[in-house]
Amino acid sequence: MMARSAVLLLGLVPVVLCQAEFAPPTVNVSLDEDPEVRWMPLLKVFDADFLKKAGAEVIDTTVPKWVHQAVAPIVVALEKYVPQPYAGEIRGMASNFGGSLSDIIILNFAYEISAFCTSIVAQDKNGHVYHGRNLDYPHPVLTNLTVNVIFLKNGEVAYRGTSFAGYVGLWTGQSPNKFTVSGDQRGSEHLWNWWKNVVSAFLFHRSPVSWLVRETLEEAQNFQDAVMRLSKIPIITGVYYIVGGVRAGEGVVITRDRKGPADIWPLDPVNGGWYRVETNFDHWLPPPARDHRREAANEALNATGQDHINMNTLFQVLSLYPVCNGITVYTTTMSAAAPEKYNTLVWSQGCIRTD
Ligand SMILES: *[C@@H]1O[C@H](CO)[C@@H](O)[C@H](O)[C@H]1NC(C)=O
Ligand SMILES: *[C@@H]1O[C@H](CO)[C@@H](O)[C@H](O)[C@H]1NC(C)=O
Ligand SMILES: *[C@@H]1O[C@H](CO)[C@@H](O)[C@H](O)[C@H]1NC(C)=O
Repeated sequence: MMARSAVLLLGLVPVVLCQAEFAPPTVNVSLDEDPEVRWMPLLKVFDADFLKKAGAEVIDTTVPKWVHQAVAPIVVALEKYVPQPYAGEIRGMASNFGGSLSDIIILNFAYEISAFCTSIVAQDKNGHVYHGRNLDYPHPVLTNLTVNVIFLKNGEVAYRGTSFAGYVGLWTGQSPNKFTVSGDQRGSEHLWNWWKNVVSAFLFHRSPVSWLVRETLEEAQNFQDAVMRLSKIPIITGVYYIVGGVRAGEGVVITRDRKGPADIWPLDPVNGGWYRVETNFDHWLPPPARDHRREAANEALNATGQDHINMNTLFQVLSLYPVCNGITVYTTTMSAAAPEKYNTLVWSQGCIRTD
């Protein structure tokens, strides 16, 4: 009921009942293991039949049937172009979970196009940086597919993130004591573009946006290095990358075109810019009139104040309607300098407005 009291505190009018949230399961994925078997731990927390059914449901509501049938053989033919380790991981999931290879590939690209989100990076008066995100996606089944993944290398935590079972990319992640990243969809892509994206990923070796997040978590040495990689490396579609670091001032919203950065919007605490809010629209333009998420988040952050921002108050801001809404799947709060505080909660029924 934290969310509700925050609403009352801030004096906003709509009363929001954020339904019982729960922590998703956590699995260890060891990068020391062969890609084909490293996702096996998923089967300790998910039922293989459930995964198969849930995957089919996501595909059915995302990809029209005729397209699904038409692309399946092409996707299989293109499989040899999927780079490692993803090819091995996807192939391993298909054989271990009993799904079809083309469906698991399609599933990995289906998520690529419809992630609506709100991300916030903020800095308190002492220079601590906090990063939070809501992931919105219009598939209720995803609440039961959400999983925290800890990627181990040499038995140590290399990085972690929150994802959906069966999906090898990351939209949310943390490299401990280095940086945190979240991705928000930019603009709305059409089916044709989706297909163009798949082909460009395979043939032109452009990274899906969620694979670049994972690679950055795996390879970047620090915040600066992460920002450089996330700004420059070609990807298959535009996106917003939000990055938080470990030192004062280390927070940025990167607006991406396919080929490079369209805009870089860093924190500017000296001039009052102690937070940045990114939803799914370029920050220098007004959002569509019916989308009030950005304004509501700004208002709530202003009401919270830099004196009072922390992991809890950031979570409260992310729980407010319409920042949190009927299709919000999960909320993550994180701070790279305090990696143990990484926290994800799943909204079992989204946030329901009851005014
Ligand atoms: C995951 O790995 C960490 C670090 O090695 C370990 O402490 C933890 O017990 C593991 N958890 C599971 C569920 O295997
Ligand atoms: C998720 O799982 C719970 C518990 O098994 C179930 O009650 C709920 O209906 C499921 N939600 C969806 C959207 O599938
Ligand atoms: C939040 O505060 C900033 C700085 O005072 C101001 O420019 C902005 O308009 C405020 N936003 C909202 C939605 O209140």
